[in-house]
Parts: sequence; structure tokens; C-alpha cells
Amino acid sequence: MPILSTPQTWILKTAHTAYALGLNSFGTLVHRYWGPRLDSPDDYRPAQDYIGWSSFNGPGQLNAAEFPAYAGASYVEPCLKITQPDGTRDTVLRFSSAHVDGDSLKLTLQDADYPLTVTLHYRVHAQYDLVERWTEVRNDGDGAVSLERVLSASWNMPHGGQYRLRHMTGKWFDEWTPQCEPLTSGVKVLESRRLTTSHNHNPFWTLDSDASEEHGDVWFGTLAWSGNWTLKAEVTDFHATRILTGLNDYDFTWRLNPGETFTTPSALAGYSSGGYGAASRILHDYVRETLLPHPGAVRKVIFNSWEVSTFHVDEASQMRFAEIAAGLGVELFVMDDGWFKGRNKDDAGLGDWVPDPTKFPNGLQPLAAHIKSLGMEFGLWIEPEMVNPDSDLYRRSPDWVIHFPTRERTEMRQQLILNLGRTDVQDYLIDSISAILSTVEISFIKWDMNRNVSEPGWPDAPGDPRELWVRYVQGLYRVWGTLRERFPQVIWQSCSGGGGRADFGILKYADQIWISDNTIPTRRLPMQLAYLSAFPAATMEAWVTDTGDPYVSLAFRMHVSMFGALGIGANITKWDAAEKDVAQVLISQYKDFRHILHQGDLYRLDTPAGYTAVQVVSKDRRESVVFAFRTHIPDPAHPLNLRLRGLHPAANYTLNTLEIPVEDGSHAGHGFPFGLVADQTEGKRSGAAWMSPGALPVYLANFDSRVMVLQQV
Ligand code: DGJ
Repeated sequence: MPILSTPQTWILKTAHTAYALGLNSFGTLVHRYWGPRLDSPDDYRPAQDYIGWSSFNGPGQLNAAEFPAYAGASYVEPCLKITQPDGTRDTVLRFSSAHVDGDSLKLTLQDADYPLTVTLHYRVHAQYDLVERWTEVRNDGDGAVSLERVLSASWNMPHGGQYRLRHMTGKWFDEWTPQCEPLTSGVKVLESRRLTTSHNHNPFWTLDSDASEEHGDVWFGTLAWSGNWTLKAEVTDFHATRILTGLNDYDFTWRLNPGETFTTPSALAGYSSGGYGAASRILHDYVRETLLPHPGAVRKVIFNSWEVSTFHVDEASQMRFAEIAAGLGVELFVMDDGWFKGRNKDDAGLGDWVPDPTKFPNGLQPLAAHIKSLGMEFGLWIEPEMVNPDSDLYRRSPDWVIHFPTRERTEMRQQLILNLGRTDVQDYLIDSISAILSTVEISFIKWDMNRNVSEPGWPDAPGDPRELWVRYVQGLYRVWGTLRERFPQVIWQSCSGGGGRADFGILKYADQIWISDNTIPTRRLPMQLAYLSAFPAATMEAWVTDTGDPYVSLAFRMHVSMFGALGIGANITKWDAAEKDVAQVLISQYKDFRHILHQGDLYRLDTPAGYTAVQVVSKDRRESVVFAFRTHIPDPAHPLNLRLRGLHPAANYTLNTLEIPVEDGSHAGHGFPFGLVADQTEGKRSGAAWMSPGALPVYLANFDSRVMVLQQV
């Protein structure tokens, strides 16, 4: 029974955790408990009912309201803010009814005086130790109400703790920078106001007091939404800590007409006593098994044309790349930007989704057929949400873009954003992308989005023009969802100039994410590690390119990309025989272990500064793959001694360090540094031995890397 209920209390139970709420003696719905699962219903803290204790502090500030509305003398951050048709801006929610159905709980609240119903939805994902929440607001009256804030959830932490908030920040080309900060009295806001999830902040959060990668209590969560979002981390004056997440109310208003219901996106959260690493593994499983359109699939080795060809793709050049790529072991050839009408640089073509007649005089079929004859699948880049003013689409429908009629339309990368809130725009995109997917055999689409919003106007909006923020994303999901249904074999990649749209909402449509335009391996290493704190490796597309420091060997660059969904984006026509040999051998090794990587449990291993190590263990614990990297440490360096994780202690495992073919002399990183000896840890040892401190010495020079595979015997 995932949900235990009495008329006034509810306990949501997962495999290892519990989340309890109930009505206090004032009838207010309050949070009671969130942490390890306890034995008896009586073990859970009862609903508290503080009364105010001065003329300045009322119960609204003291009680851990489960979903506070803006009302009365409550000065905490509300989840709901509404203006009634008569101008009243105070929403008094009273509990009305509860409904339990298997793993779902619905709590219905009603305004004390106005015909307004708020339903709090809970779904227990018991095996993942996660609780999903979303909110519905229904207008039962006969005048329109204005919704000014409707969040998905507030997550109350155990009272009185002092918490650290961990989250990720960044910017284009520099995403996924972990941040960790103590929360003190007040409100810390993270958000996107850019129309997409953004490169700058990600809605993934963790809270803890003293946890580490391997140990300690961690509360964590995220939001399944690909547009403007907000996270408000509040520490009240009475030492209560709460995380509120949902749609960003910045510049948001929704006109809710009589009889209409507004539904928020889902917020997801969990608790683990196993540190940050355990929290990540929970989310990895959840994403792979419940969100991704193609669960269980291993990722194909990709070639992508962008960094090599930029806009200068044509039939002959791409056929040439395809021939070499096939010889290296690439399985999916993706032609990036530049293939469609008028697209010679970034100032034209977006919106007109037909092949450019000068580059592809016979359409895309000859290239697609050639790629197929080489044993590979064919993929294509599109950027459906955009239009260049220099395009037939814009000349035909200039008012389809997001704009204010009296303002100049700010172009970024010479492009404007189509208003996907409009159904005519959605239908146009569904038709034009369906046409591409129907004329050529395509098994992969990279869906890009290369700017953020400006002048967010919608002159003939059906409701409040500020509904744009939400209707746009709903429109995006409709277009993408329809295409997914029509072309279920296609694997989609979500890209927004790199990692601008990486979230649990888009992963219902896209299996892979292009996490950054930055392909410099030494920068990608920490970015990838941070990305993996919320998202599984199977979603993390990573290409080996020519970008980066010349002294970094091809093997190192490949190893960095090999702990995600491996791709090649380098100029392989310039690779010499030795480089091709390295690529061929490493791609073949990758194909042998990628099932572990894409389906297994991931551990970020403890390393001293200058080293990075990641281990992935298969679900049956019979196999494991370990990646170790050294960036730069002045010699003589302290050695790396790894303690492995996740193995079966009593089983025996052999370890095999995978071969790296010798490259030509131009790359540093090989040979052994002063004072160190060659790898010597082979042979059979028990899981317990491999997991003892310092069990696996790995001897690495600067910018050197190793991949090791363990097999149970
Ligand atoms: C931005 C993407 O992140 C790149 O990978 C590439 O697809 C370019 N756009 C193409 O314009």
C-alpha cells in the first residue's frame, strides 16, 4: 500500500522513504514528515498547529503549510496567488476531500467564499523513492479569475535543520557549474525568464546538512518543464526551510475562464540517506525507465557534421565524411545545420524546411541512400521554432513571431522566434517536419533552439498575452508529441545551443541531450560530471572534436566522450592512419561496454584534485567499467588510488585495462611520468577487495586517461 490514509492524515510510502501530511486542528493542510520510512503510522510526527504569538506573527508563518495561498497574515512565499473577478486578491483554501487511488492521492481544497477549487495531486513512485506533485486550479464561478502564481509544489524540509542548497549555474558554452551555498534567512531564487529551461540555471536541486557523495541525508528534486520556471528556497524567520518550484510567475498571468482548469507541470522530489551519489542513481533510473521515449536502448555512435562543415554541407562532402565514419565504426550519420533552402550562413533559411537545391540537387535521398549502403542510419538537424527574416515563411507570415507591434524585433543570430502558442504555427511545423520525415528514411533528429526570447508580445492572444510563456511550451510539446507519435522510430536530441533545454519535461520527447557547445575535453569533464548528477549517461551526447588544447591526445578526448553517448564531430578526413586506428579500436571497445554505461549504476569516485574518475556497474553487478582521467598536476604527482563501488562484495572480479593504440608523437599524455611505474593491477580479486580504500592504483601522466573493465568470474 503506497498510501496510508485516515480521514485527516496521509502517509506516502516508497521503498525506503515516507512523506506524511495531514490536517491540523485548524483544518489547515500541513506537512508532517519526509525522510526514512518508519515502522508504524504512529511514528510519524503529528500535524502541528501553532498559534500566532504576537500581533506580528500569525499561524501562517509558523505552520508548515503544504500549499500556502496568498491570504491572511501569512508572509511566507505562497504557492498560489489569484485575483478574483471582483478584485479580491486573498485566497482562503479549506480542505474539502481526499481521494486515494493506488499510488495516487488527490487532495481537493476550496476557497472559503469563492467558487474556486484547487486540487493537489501526488503520485508515489515507490521503487524510485520519489514523490511527484502537480496542481490543478478550476474556476467554478461565472467570471474570469486571474492566476498570477500557480506553483507545482512546496517541499517542506525537516524543521530546524540548517541546509545547503546545491544547484547548477552557467551560460552558453559554459553550462553545468555546480554551486553549493548555505541557506540562511530569506529567499534564494533560481529561475529562467528566457522561454527555455536555460543554460544559466537548471531546476535540479539538492538540500543537505552534511552529506557527501556516498553518505548522508539528501533531499532532492526537479521540475518537468521546458520553459520559464522558478525555484524559491526560503528559510523563514522561524527556521523552517522550504523549496517551492513551478512555473515562473515573473511576467505571468493566466486568465482562467468560467469552467476552465489550469494544470501545472509536475515537480518531482525524493529523499535518500545515501548521499548525492544515491540521489543521482535514483534519478537516472527514473529517467531511463519512466521518461525516455526509448527506454532500454543503447546509444548509437554518431558522426555529426557541425564543427567540421558548419553551414557548408553538400552531397559530395557529406558522402565523403560518411565513408570514413563508417570505416571507424560510426552507426548514425547526422547532418547538422546548413542543408535547407538558402542556408549558407546564419542569416537565412530558418523556417523553409526543404533541401537546398544547389547543395542537394536531387533532395536528400541520394545522401540518405549512400549512408544506408554504408551500414549507417541517417539523422538530420532542424530548428523548427525559429525563422530568419530572410525566409519565405517570414515573408509570408511576419506576424507569426513573438513580438510587440510597436517595438523593433530584436534579432539574435539573425533570427526571430515563432510563437508556438499559436495553433496555426504548431500545425505548420507538424506538417513541414512530417514532410521531411516522410520523404527520406531518417532515424534521428537533432532539435535545436538557438536564442532566448525578447519583446515577449502576442498581439492577438486569445487570453492574457502573458500566457505566452506557458502556451509556447504546451505548443512545443504538442508539435513534438505529434511528431513522436507519427514517427516512433526516430530518436530525438534536445539541443538549445548546447544545454539550454535539458530538463525532465523534454526527456519525455527526446532521448538525448546536447549538453553544451563546448567540446573542449578538459572543460567537458567537469561539466559532464555535474550533468550526471541529475541526468543519466545514456542521455548525454558527447562528441570528440578538434576543439581544445593540441597536447590532449585523441585517446583522452575519446575517453571523455565515451562515458556518455559517444559521437565524433572532428574532421576525420584529416586523421592519419594512427588516429583512425585509435578511433576504430576505442569505438569497438565502447560498443562492448556501452550496455553497462547506458543502463547501469553510476558512481562518481572520490579522487584528489587533478583527477576525475567515474565507474558504472551493471544492474546485475556482474560487470563494471571505470574511467580515470588526469588533467594537470605538477610532477612529481601524487598517484591515483581508486576505491571502487557498487560491486558484489563476495563475488570475484577480474580487471582489464583497455588497450590504447599508439598515436603519432604529436600528442603528449602518454609514456609514464617521472617516478611512476606502468599499470600493474590486473588479476582476480573479490568485490570487497576492489571496494577497499585505494584498491586500484592507476598511473597517469598529465592529460592521460584509462578505461578499465571488471568482469565477475
Ligand atoms: C547550436 C548547436 O548546439 C550546435 O551543435 C549546432 O547544431 C549549431 N547550433 C548549428 O547551428
